[in-house]
Amino acid sequence: MSSRPRILIVGAAGQVGLELQRSFADAGEIITRDRDTVDLAVPDQVRAMVRDAAPNIILNAAAYTAVDRAESEPDAALAINAQAPGILAEESLRSGTLLVHYSTDYVFDGFKVGPWVETDKPNPLNVYGASKLAGEKVIQQVGGKYLIFRTSWVYGPHGSNFLLTMLRLGRERDSLNIVDDQIGAPTSSIELADATRTIVSGVLAGQFGATSDWAGLYHMTCGGSVSWCGFARAIFTRAQTLLDGKMPAVYPIPSSEYPTPARRPQNSVLSNERLRARFGVQLAPWEPALDWVLRRLTSQQPQV
Ligand SMILES: NC(=O)c1ccc[n+]([C@@H]2O[C@H](COP(=O)([O-])OP(=O)(O)OC[C@H]3O[C@@H](n4cnc5c(N)ncnc54)[C@H](OP(=O)(O)O)[C@@H]3O)[C@@H](O)[C@H]2O)c1
Repeated sequence: MSSRPRILIVGAAGQVGLELQRSFADAGEIITRDRDTVDLAVPDQVRAMVRDAAPNIILNAAAYTAVDRAESEPDAALAINAQAPGILAEESLRSGTLLVHYSTDYVFDGFKVGPWVETDKPNPLNVYGASKLAGEKVIQQVGGKYLIFRTSWVYGPHGSNFLLTMLRLGRERDSLNIVDDQIGAPTSSIELADATRTIVSGVLAGQFGATSDWAGLYHMTCGGSVSWCGFARAIFTRAQTLLDGKMPAVYPIPSSEYPTPARRPQNSVLSNERLRARFGVQLAPWEPALDWVLRRLTSQQPQV
């Protein structure tokens, strides 16, 4: 491979895609694609996108991520989360391209006590989780040079996510009821992108051996765990400058008091041990990772 690899970032305008653009900016020639330039639900467009770009690396941050809407649009979720990744995998295999893909904690049913490991049996509770699991399986079946990173509760400085929603609601309301019986690891898009960069650089440098030594499925989340309610409280405690001085009261509620079209797992915590053992990479614990995102948001605020 030339010293400047061609890196195709798919879903480049999403919250992870934007951070991948930042993190890989000096790693090679960056080619970005998003809904403006490709409809991933159309197989011919997916294939043509890869052949035109002729990348050495594909970073697939695109997904159908509307978890509740997916319950009524299963075909669309499957097309984007399983069919499109299958084509990316076939094209990668054909040309020897490295494919990086992201999956989700929602492949699990949440009933395990303790963190989920990669060998635990998935059993998604919702259409989104089932479509993402189908995407994992098709990439694994095709094989080749692939990395699948299962992550959870992604948030960051951009896009649509729990942190930005809480900051908005925190400014608007005096109190909020937040689900307290779903536990997971909030994972910052900054941490996720930077860990991906470290691993991809190591793979390209031959640091991790032959493809059969590193290709596969890994859990990749920030450390620790918390409920949504605990996460909201941490946001309000740490984000004072972004809340115009407001401090809303946060009341814990069970999931049963916040019905949604899609069921969600109660225990979403993933073990990152395989990632640490194979690549020596560990994402930050969720609290300092949150502080880092809040610092980024604060520095982006208009100065008065
Ligand atoms: N968000 C989470 O909490 C979470 C948790 C676990 C795993 N993940 C996984 O992490 C990865 C990145 O997620 P994210 O949070 O960054 O998602 P995101 O912000 O929703 O970004 C996904 C991107 O994919 C694009 N996209 C969707 N359908 C498309 C289509 N038909 N054609 C072209 N582009 C399309 C979206 O465009 P539009 O905005 O125009 O739709 C968006 O830019 C995904 O694989 C996701 O499943 C996310």
